[in-house]
Amino acid sequence: MSEQPTYDLIASGESASRPSSDALVFFGATGDLAYKQIFPALQNMVRREGLSVPVIGVAKSGWSLDQLRARAHDSIAQHGGAVDEGAFAKLAQLLKYVDGDYNDPATFEKLRKALQGATRPAHYLAVPPSLFGNVVEALGKSGSAQNARIIIEKPFGHDLASAQKLNAVLHSVFPESAIFRIDHYLGKEAVENLLFFRFANTFLEPIWNRNYVHSVQITMAEPFGVAGRGAFYDATGAIRDVLQNHLLQVVSLLAMEPPTSMYFESLHDEKVKVFRMIPPLNPAHMVRGQFRGYRDEPGVASGSHVETFAAVRLEVDSWRWAGVPFLIRAGKCLPVAATEVFVKLKQPPLSKLDPGSNYFRFRLGPDLSISLGARIKRPGAQMVSMPAELSAVNQSKSQDLEAYERLLTDAMRGDATLFVREDAVEAAWSIVEPVLGGAAPLHVYEPGAWGPPEADLLAADMGGWHNPEKQPQT
Ligand code: BG6
Repeated sequence: MSEQPTYDLIASGESASRPSSDALVFFGATGDLAYKQIFPALQNMVRREGLSVPVIGVAKSGWSLDQLRARAHDSIAQHGGAVDEGAFAKLAQLLKYVDGDYNDPATFEKLRKALQGATRPAHYLAVPPSLFGNVVEALGKSGSAQNARIIIEKPFGHDLASAQKLNAVLHSVFPESAIFRIDHYLGKEAVENLLFFRFANTFLEPIWNRNYVHSVQITMAEPFGVAGRGAFYDATGAIRDVLQNHLLQVVSLLAMEPPTSMYFESLHDEKVKVFRMIPPLNPAHMVRGQFRGYRDEPGVASGSHVETFAAVRLEVDSWRWAGVPFLIRAGKCLPVAATEVFVKLKQPPLSKLDPGSNYFRFRLGPDLSISLGARIKRPGAQMVSMPAELSAVNQSKSQDLEAYERLLTDAMRGDATLFVREDAVEAAWSIVEPVLGGAAPLHVYEPGAWGPPEADLLAADMGGWHNPEKQPQT
C-alpha cells in the first residue's frame, strides 16, 4: 500500500522560523544518564539528523577530552546497539570537554571560552535536580544564556512549591520559549501514537466518551527493583518518579480534546485543560506499596516509608469523562516489564449472546502494539461468544534511544511540542500534592506480585485490574 502524504496533526511549525542551536552543552557528561542514553542518542543525531555543531560535555571528574571520547565509545557499544565508526569519528571531532565544579564561576568562564563563536547554544542539564538552580544562575551570570535554550531533565521539582520556585529561577534567566522540560515518555513512539490513534481516525470519536467507555486503566510494571539508584529513589518514590510525570502525561493524551493544527500551543493548552479537570488525588483512593527487601537496598534508609508501588483511582471531571474511573498503577519488582493502557468499553445489552466487553489495549512498552478486544462466535453448534483480539504490532526496538534522539533534536530546533510547559508541570504537581509525603498508608508486597492486595480493592467494582502479559518472544 502506498503511503499517503502526511499532514501534521499538531502544529510544531512555529519552530521553523526559529534558528537551530549552534552548540550543544551537556552538564553531567560523565554521569549515568549520559552513559546510558545521551552518547547513543548523539551518535544517532550525527548519523541521522546531521548533527554538526560542537558538543561540549561539562562535569567535575578531572577527566581529559580523550577520556570522555573513550567513555562515549564505550557507552555506545554498551547501550547504543553498535558503534558506527564513521558517525562516531564525526562525533569525537565535535566533542569538547570542560572540567569543573558547578559552584565555581571559573567553570562557566571555561565554558564561555569553549563555546567560542557559538551564539545560540542549547544547554542540557543531565544533572541531579539539586544543581539545576546553580547552573541556571551561573549560565546567566557568565553570559552563556543569551539567545540560548535550556533543556531540563526530570524530576522537575519535588512538589508544587519547588516546581514553582524552579520555574521562577529559570524565568529569571530564560524566557519560557527557550525552556524545554524533558519527560522522555513524550518522545516515545508508542506514546505519540496515542495522539494519532485518537485523532487521525474517525471511528473512535463517537465512542471515546462516558457513554461508551466503562473505565480506563494504566499499568506501568517493572520487574526490577531500584537498580542501583537507591539514594535517588528513596528521596523520590513511585508517585514522584513516574506518576506525576509519565503517567499523568499518558492520561492527558487519552483524555484531551483534539488540538488544532493551526496554533503551536494548542496541544499544551489541551493537556493543561485535562490536568485542571482532575481533582487533587484523594489519599483514600491511593494505595502505596513497598516491595519486601527494599530497605536493604544500598542507599535506602533502613526505616524507609517510600513507596515502590502506587495505585490510584482518579476522575477527569469533564463533559466527556464524568463518571468514568481512571486507574493508574506503577511499581518496581512486579511480575512483568510492561506499560499498558486498557480502555474497557461498556457491555452491549444482549446477554443471551454471552457478551463480554470490548476494549482497546495500547501497549506502550517495551514492545508496541494497539489491540482491539472483540467478541466473536465460538465455532460450533452452540450460540456462545469467545474473545478475539485484533492487533497492530510494531516491532521497533530501542524506544528510549529514539526518545532522547528525538527530544534533543527537537529542542535544538526550538520545537517544544514534546516538552512539558510551565503550567502543565505545576498543574500535575497540584494533582498529586495531597498524596505526597505518606498521606496514604504503605503496605508491603512480595517481589513478583502485582503490588499489595489492598490495590485490588480500587478496581474491585470494575472487574479487577487488567494485568499486562509478558512481552511476547520475538
Ligand atoms: C524514569 C524513572 O523516569 O522512567 C525510572 O526514573 C523508570 O524509575 C523509567 O524505570 C521508566 O522509563 P522506561 O522508558 O524505561 O519505561
